[in-house]
Amino acid sequence: MSNPFRIGILGSGKGSNFVAIADAIAAGKVPAQIAIVLSDVETAGILAHARERNIAAQYIPPGPFRTKLGEEAERAFVSALRVADVDLIVLAGFMRVLKGDFLRAFENRIINIHPSLLPSFPGLESWKQALDHGVKVTGCTVHFVDAGVDAGPIIGQQTVPVLDNDTLESLHQRIHAAEHQLYPECIAAIARGETSIIGRRVIWRKK
Ligand code: GRF
Repeated sequence: MSNPFRIGILGSGKGSNFVAIADAIAAGKVPAQIAIVLSDVETAGILAHARERNIAAQYIPPGPFRTKLGEEAERAFVSALRVADVDLIVLAGFMRVLKGDFLRAFENRIINIHPSLLPSFPGLESWKQALDHGVKVTGCTVHFVDAGVDAGPIIGQQTVPVLDNDTLESLHQRIHAAEHQLYPECIAAIARGETSIIGRRVIWRKK
């Protein structure tokens, strides 16, 4: 048997996407292994969820900035991911923008999930942006991470209807549920080597 495809997951929050990915792996739907979970928030639920499953989980202090990693922190994240020998880095609610050295260290090997149909509603609280704008359909997007914010090549998208009686909470919840399906599917395709990046397009070829 060939070596398992190793993923490193970075998150700052609850970790519901981590749980969906870990459950999909356990159910045999994603041919991968979670090698490490890293967080910039010591009390993040994602670390607790990982430890409950006996998956290596580490808090790395993020440094002095609010929206990016400090230099020392960036080096510590890159080093932990290299030691864990990851093939793919999965951002699951990681609330800091990754910069040059980090991106160069793992070119085309970092993916993110965003709670809207990009390129609509990048940035924060995309479900609120969608509700405020009055769109009838929104959703979620899995994409490769590049130097832009929520900007890299799109791997997969799932639509979610916006209902007339939606509140911020109900719409957010419906998007979250779609994320929990989409993210494991995209990771499985990458792990199987079924995706290739051609310019801005990510092409899926079943193996
Ligand atoms: C998700 O909604 C994702 O789209 C965004 O951060 C949230 C993470 O949620 N990038 P969780 O920590 O996985 O529950």
